[in-house]
Amino acid sequence: NDQSHANDSTVRILLVGEREVGKTSMIYSLVFEEFDEEVPAKFEEITIPAEVTPVNIPTVIVDYSAQEQSEKDLYEELQRASVICIVYAIDNEVTIDKISTYWLPLIHQRLGENHSIPIILVGNKSDLVEYSSIDTVLPLMNQYKEIEICVECSAKNLDNLSEIFYYAQKTVLYPVTPIYYPEERE
Ligand code: GTP
Repeated sequence: NDQSHANDSTVRILLVGEREVGKTSMIYSLVFEEFDEEVPAKFEEITIPAEVTPVNIPTVIVDYSAQEQSEKDLYEELQRASVICIVYAIDNEVTIDKISTYWLPLIHQRLGENHSIPIILVGNKSDLVEYSSIDTVLPLMNQYKEIEICVECSAKNLDNLSEIFYYAQKTVLYPVTPIYYPEERE
């Protein structure tokens, strides 16, 4: 139905974004609960069993790697996603610019202007900076209504990481109007 994007009772979280923003590291750190400087280009698709997710729904986490995958692969993954995380690196302005110059238009182009797949903007590498990037990306929420939430994390010190995957699950399972933040709905 229109309200939920959990397909076959599985939540499918797709991570996209520019190279080197830390998509693979985020998944690695979440799964192994520690940061490793050496991660593969792409993390194999991983299913977190329902029992160990806070929402009790099996959750598939999908890494996208431009290095190893074609654009066609990306388009297919966009079609299959329950929720899309556009990851940028807080310390890298180019990766922030690309959210609005590349990723959001691409998603509109592939899924349609009125698609209802929720999007989460994720600023990674918060350990590298003293400031927040949220004020920079927040205006995009007015332009793109499908953006549910903007959050920051660090794959390196595991800060806010499990929370982000939890938000992603909750966004799919309990869609909310943009004025409510998922963490306020208990
Ligand atoms: P592609 O495979 O090219 O798409 O890159 P990716 O987005 O998967 O990035 P990856 O996880 O390979 O990380 C890129 C670089 O950033 C690596 O050197 C990581 O060690 C580093 N990195 C990732 N996350 C963090 C973080 O939270 N903090 C810091 N300081 N470095 C990070």
